[in-house]
Amino acid sequence: MISRFLETRPRIDQALSAIDKNRLKLPVLSASSYFDGFDATPVVFHELPAGSWSSPVVDVLMLAKIAACTGSRRLLEVGSFRGYTALMLARHMPSDATLVTVDRFPDHGEAYRDSPLAARIERRVAEVVPETFAADAPGSFDFIFLDAGHRYHEVKADTEILLPLLAPDGFMLWHDYANWGRFNGFNGVPEYLHELCARIPVCQVDGSTLGIHCPRWTSGTGREKLSASLLRKDAEKPGADPWTSISLR
Ligand SMILES: C[S@@+](CC[C@H](N)C(=O)[O-])C[C@H]1O[C@@H](n2cnc3c(N)ncnc32)[C@H](O)[C@@H]1O
Repeated sequence: MISRFLETRPRIDQALSAIDKNRLKLPVLSASSYFDGFDATPVVFHELPAGSWSSPVVDVLMLAKIAACTGSRRLLEVGSFRGYTALMLARHMPSDATLVTVDRFPDHGEAYRDSPLAARIERRVAEVVPETFAADAPGSFDFIFLDAGHRYHEVKADTEILLPLLAPDGFMLWHDYANWGRFNGFNGVPEYLHELCARIPVCQVDGSTLGIHCPRWTSGTGREKLSASLLRKDAEKPGADPWTSISLR
Protein backbone atom coordinates (compact mmCIF):
# COMPACT_ATOMS: atom_id res chain seq x y z
CA MET A 1 0.00 0.00 0.00
CA ILE A 2 2.84 2.43 0.87
CA SER A 3 4.67 1.45 -2.30
CA ARG A 4 1.51 2.19 -4.34
CA PHE A 5 1.32 5.64 -2.72
CA LEU A 6 4.99 6.30 -3.55
CA GLU A 7 4.72 5.14 -7.16
CA THR A 8 3.26 8.51 -8.11
CA ARG A 9 5.48 10.45 -5.71
CA PRO A 10 9.10 9.86 -6.79
CA ARG A 11 10.39 12.85 -4.80
CA ILE A 12 9.14 11.39 -1.53
CA ASP A 13 10.71 8.06 -2.49
CA GLN A 14 13.97 9.89 -3.26
CA ALA A 15 13.94 11.63 0.12
CA LEU A 16 13.24 8.38 1.98
CA SER A 17 15.93 6.52 0.01
CA ALA A 18 18.48 9.22 0.90
CA ILE A 19 17.97 8.54 4.62
CA ASP A 20 19.50 5.06 4.24
CA LYS A 21 23.13 5.78 3.41
CA ASN A 22 24.07 2.11 3.67
CA ARG A 23 21.87 0.73 0.90
CA LEU A 24 24.78 0.20 -1.50
CA LYS A 25 27.07 -2.40 0.00
CA LEU A 26 28.85 -4.15 -2.86
CA PRO A 27 32.66 -4.05 -2.96
CA VAL A 28 33.85 -1.26 -5.27
CA LEU A 29 36.05 -2.15 -8.24
CA SER A 30 38.57 0.36 -9.55
CA ALA A 31 38.19 -0.10 -13.31
CA SER A 32 41.35 1.86 -13.93
CA SER A 33 43.38 -0.55 -11.85
CA TYR A 34 41.59 -3.74 -13.05
CA PHE A 35 41.44 -3.25 -16.83
CA ASP A 36 44.77 -3.03 -18.67
CA GLY A 37 45.11 0.25 -20.53
CA PHE A 38 41.93 1.70 -19.00
CA ASP A 39 43.25 5.22 -18.39
CA ALA A 40 44.96 5.44 -21.79
CA THR A 41 41.94 4.16 -23.76
CA PRO A 42 40.09 7.08 -25.37
CA VAL A 43 36.31 7.27 -25.59
CA VAL A 44 34.78 9.50 -28.25
CA PHE A 45 31.34 11.04 -27.84
CA HIS A 46 29.59 12.69 -30.76
CA GLU A 47 25.94 12.95 -29.78
CA LEU A 48 25.04 12.76 -26.10
CA PRO A 49 22.37 10.36 -24.75
CA ALA A 50 18.90 11.92 -24.98
CA GLY A 51 15.74 10.97 -23.11
CA SER A 52 15.21 10.34 -19.41
CA TRP A 53 15.57 6.55 -19.77
CA SER A 54 18.98 6.75 -21.49
CA SER A 55 21.98 5.87 -19.34
CA PRO A 56 23.84 8.94 -18.04
CA VAL A 57 27.05 9.97 -19.79
CA VAL A 58 29.35 8.71 -17.03
CA ASP A 59 27.90 5.19 -17.21
CA VAL A 60 28.01 5.14 -21.01
CA LEU A 61 31.63 6.29 -20.86
CA MET A 62 32.48 3.50 -18.40
CA LEU A 63 30.74 0.85 -20.54
CA ALA A 64 32.52 2.03 -23.70
CA LYS A 65 35.91 2.00 -21.96
CA ILE A 66 35.35 -1.49 -20.59
CA ALA A 67 34.20 -2.76 -24.01
CA ALA A 68 37.30 -1.22 -25.62
CA CYS A 69 39.76 -2.48 -22.99
CA THR A 70 38.39 -6.02 -22.97
CA GLY A 71 38.23 -6.21 -26.78
CA SER A 72 34.87 -7.96 -26.43
CA ARG A 73 33.80 -9.62 -29.70
CA ARG A 74 30.16 -10.50 -29.05
CA LEU A 75 28.24 -7.96 -27.01
CA LEU A 76 24.63 -7.89 -25.84
CA GLU A 77 22.57 -4.98 -24.56
CA VAL A 78 19.22 -5.96 -23.04
CA GLY A 79 16.88 -2.97 -22.72
CA SER A 80 18.28 -0.67 -25.39
CA PHE A 81 15.73 2.16 -25.65
CA ARG A 82 16.90 4.87 -28.06
CA GLY A 83 20.25 3.14 -28.59
CA TYR A 84 22.75 5.75 -27.41
CA THR A 85 24.62 3.22 -25.30
CA ALA A 86 24.49 0.69 -28.13
CA LEU A 87 25.96 3.29 -30.49
CA MET A 88 28.85 3.94 -28.10
CA LEU A 89 29.49 0.23 -27.57
CA ALA A 90 29.54 -0.34 -31.33
CA ARG A 91 31.88 2.60 -31.83
CA HIS A 92 34.37 1.28 -29.28
CA MET A 93 34.25 -2.46 -29.90
CA PRO A 94 36.79 -4.12 -32.25
CA SER A 95 35.96 -3.80 -35.97
CA ASP A 96 35.11 -7.52 -36.26
CA ALA A 97 32.85 -7.54 -33.18
CA THR A 98 29.05 -7.68 -33.22
CA LEU A 99 26.49 -6.21 -30.85
CA VAL A 100 23.02 -7.64 -30.26
CA THR A 101 20.39 -5.24 -28.87
CA VAL A 102 17.08 -6.38 -27.39
CA ASP A 103 14.05 -4.23 -26.53
CA ARG A 104 10.28 -4.75 -26.66
CA PHE A 105 9.85 -1.27 -28.16
CA PRO A 106 9.48 -1.77 -31.96
CA ASP A 107 11.41 1.39 -32.91
CA HIS A 108 14.30 1.02 -30.50
CA GLY A 109 17.74 2.11 -31.66
CA GLU A 110 17.08 5.51 -33.27
CA ALA A 111 20.60 6.64 -32.30
CA TYR A 112 22.36 4.20 -34.66
CA ARG A 113 19.75 3.00 -37.15
CA ASP A 114 20.79 5.43 -39.89
CA SER A 115 24.52 5.18 -39.18
CA PRO A 116 27.13 2.87 -40.80
CA LEU A 117 27.48 1.14 -37.43
CA ALA A 118 23.98 -0.32 -37.84
CA ALA A 119 25.53 -3.04 -40.03
CA ARG A 120 27.34 -4.39 -36.97
CA ILE A 121 24.32 -4.30 -34.68
CA GLU A 122 21.69 -7.06 -34.66
CA ARG A 123 18.49 -5.41 -33.44
CA ARG A 124 15.94 -7.72 -31.88
CA VAL A 125 12.45 -6.50 -31.05
CA ALA A 126 11.54 -8.90 -28.29
CA GLU A 127 10.78 -9.57 -24.65
CA VAL A 128 13.45 -10.79 -22.26
CA VAL A 129 12.38 -14.43 -22.37
CA PRO A 130 14.40 -17.60 -23.09
CA GLU A 131 12.97 -17.84 -26.66
CA THR A 132 14.63 -14.53 -27.58
CA PHE A 133 18.04 -16.15 -26.98
CA ALA A 134 17.23 -19.64 -28.26
CA ALA A 135 19.76 -19.30 -31.10
CA ASP A 136 22.56 -18.05 -28.82
CA ALA A 137 24.85 -20.80 -27.54
CA PRO A 138 25.59 -20.89 -23.79
CA GLY A 139 28.68 -18.77 -23.05
CA SER A 140 28.54 -17.06 -26.44
CA PHE A 141 28.60 -13.42 -25.25
CA ASP A 142 31.69 -11.87 -23.68
CA PHE A 143 29.96 -8.62 -22.69
CA ILE A 144 26.35 -8.41 -21.46
CA PHE A 145 24.72 -5.17 -20.31
CA LEU A 146 21.33 -5.55 -18.61
CA ASP A 147 19.18 -2.42 -18.43
CA ALA A 148 15.55 -3.54 -18.92
CA GLY A 149 12.99 -3.86 -16.09
CA HIS A 150 14.41 -2.61 -12.77
CA ARG A 151 11.96 -4.11 -10.30
CA TYR A 152 13.47 -6.88 -8.14
CA HIS A 153 11.56 -9.72 -9.81
CA GLU A 154 12.40 -8.37 -13.28
CA VAL A 155 16.14 -8.02 -12.77
CA LYS A 156 16.23 -11.45 -11.09
CA ALA A 157 14.33 -13.19 -13.89
CA ASP A 158 16.37 -11.43 -16.62
CA THR A 159 19.69 -12.20 -14.93
CA GLU A 160 18.80 -15.87 -14.64
CA ILE A 161 18.18 -15.99 -18.38
CA LEU A 162 21.32 -14.05 -19.29
CA LEU A 163 24.04 -15.38 -16.97
CA PRO A 164 24.27 -18.77 -18.77
CA LEU A 165 24.99 -16.84 -21.98
CA LEU A 166 28.11 -15.23 -20.48
CA ALA A 167 31.54 -16.55 -21.55
CA PRO A 168 33.83 -17.77 -18.72
CA ASP A 169 36.12 -14.76 -19.21
CA GLY A 170 33.32 -12.32 -20.11
CA PHE A 171 31.74 -9.49 -18.12
CA MET A 172 28.12 -8.99 -17.17
CA LEU A 173 27.05 -5.47 -16.18
CA TRP A 174 23.83 -4.22 -14.60
CA HIS A 175 22.58 -0.66 -14.76
CA ASP A 176 21.17 1.34 -11.85
CA TYR A 177 22.98 -0.10 -8.89
CA ALA A 178 21.84 3.14 -7.31
CA ASN A 179 19.95 4.42 -4.30
CA TRP A 180 16.58 5.34 -5.77
CA GLY A 181 13.24 3.60 -6.15
CA ARG A 182 13.58 1.52 -3.02
CA PHE A 183 10.28 2.24 -1.34
CA ASN A 184 8.08 2.41 -4.44
CA GLY A 185 9.71 -0.80 -5.72
CA PHE A 186 10.84 0.73 -9.03
CA ASN A 187 14.49 -0.16 -8.48
CA GLY A 188 15.31 -3.54 -6.98
CA VAL A 189 18.73 -3.77 -8.65
CA PRO A 190 20.68 -3.20 -5.37
CA GLU A 191 18.65 -5.74 -3.41
CA TYR A 192 18.94 -8.35 -6.17
CA LEU A 193 22.69 -7.83 -6.63
CA HIS A 194 23.30 -8.13 -2.88
CA GLU A 195 21.48 -11.46 -2.95
CA LEU A 196 23.42 -12.60 -6.04
CA CYS A 197 26.70 -11.56 -4.44
CA ALA A 198 26.25 -14.29 -1.83
CA ARG A 199 26.54 -16.83 -4.71
CA ILE A 200 28.97 -15.21 -7.17
CA PRO A 201 31.32 -12.20 -6.97
CA VAL A 202 29.61 -8.94 -7.94
CA CYS A 203 31.07 -5.44 -7.53
CA GLN A 204 30.09 -1.86 -8.21
CA VAL A 205 32.24 -0.13 -10.82
CA ASP A 206 33.79 2.90 -9.12
CA GLY A 207 32.36 6.24 -10.24
CA SER A 208 29.31 4.67 -11.88
CA THR A 209 25.96 3.05 -11.13
CA LEU A 210 27.08 -0.21 -12.76
CA GLY A 211 27.25 -3.61 -11.12
CA ILE A 212 29.76 -6.03 -12.68
CA HIS A 213 30.54 -9.74 -12.56
CA CYS A 214 33.13 -11.95 -14.26
CA PRO A 215 33.01 -15.77 -13.84
CA ARG A 216 36.84 -15.78 -13.55
CA TRP A 217 36.54 -14.01 -10.20
CA THR A 218 35.30 -17.11 -8.47
CA SER A 219 38.73 -18.63 -7.79
CA GLY A 220 42.50 -18.67 -8.43
CA THR A 221 44.30 -15.85 -10.19
CA GLY A 222 41.03 -14.26 -11.28
CA ARG A 223 40.03 -13.85 -7.66
CA GLU A 224 43.47 -12.48 -6.74
CA LYS A 225 43.35 -9.93 -9.56
CA LEU A 226 39.90 -8.81 -8.42
CA SER A 227 41.02 -8.44 -4.78
CA ALA A 228 43.98 -6.31 -5.85
CA SER A 229 41.68 -3.89 -7.69
CA LEU A 230 39.06 -3.28 -5.01
CA LEU A 231 38.96 0.17 -3.43
CA ARG A 232 39.72 0.23 0.26
CA LYS A 233 36.49 1.47 1.79
CA ASP A 234 38.22 3.10 4.78
CA ALA A 235 40.47 5.19 2.49
CA GLU A 236 37.54 6.30 0.31
CA LYS A 237 34.73 6.92 2.79
CA PRO A 238 33.05 10.36 2.88
CA GLY A 239 35.36 12.84 4.56
CA ALA A 240 38.53 10.98 3.49
CA ASP A 241 41.54 13.08 2.51
CA PRO A 242 40.80 14.40 -1.03
CA TRP A 243 44.54 14.54 -1.81
CA THR A 244 45.03 10.81 -1.29
CA SER A 245 41.63 9.48 -2.41
CA ILE A 246 41.66 7.67 -5.76
CA SER A 247 37.91 7.16 -6.17
CA LEU A 248 36.45 8.52 -9.40
CA ARG A 249 34.11 11.51 -9.61
C1 LIG B 1 16.26 2.25 -19.08
S1 LIG B 1 15.76 1.88 -20.70
C2 LIG B 1 17.27 1.32 -21.44
C3 LIG B 1 18.30 2.40 -21.66
C4 LIG B 1 19.48 1.98 -22.50
N1 LIG B 1 20.10 0.78 -22.02
C5 LIG B 1 20.52 3.08 -22.52
O1 LIG B 1 21.60 2.88 -21.95
O2 LIG B 1 20.25 4.14 -23.07
C6 LIG B 1 14.90 0.38 -20.48
C7 LIG B 1 14.39 -0.26 -21.77
O3 LIG B 1 14.08 -1.60 -21.47
C8 LIG B 1 12.94 -2.00 -22.22
N2 LIG B 1 12.34 -3.13 -21.49
C9 LIG B 1 11.91 -3.15 -20.20
N3 LIG B 1 11.49 -4.37 -19.86
C10 LIG B 1 11.65 -5.15 -20.95
C11 LIG B 1 11.39 -6.53 -21.23
N4 LIG B 1 10.92 -7.36 -20.30
N5 LIG B 1 11.66 -7.00 -22.48
C12 LIG B 1 12.16 -6.17 -23.43
N6 LIG B 1 12.43 -4.87 -23.22
C13 LIG B 1 12.19 -4.36 -22.00
C14 LIG B 1 12.07 -0.75 -22.30
O4 LIG B 1 11.26 -0.78 -23.46
C15 LIG B 1 13.13 0.38 -22.33
O5 LIG B 1 13.37 0.84 -23.64
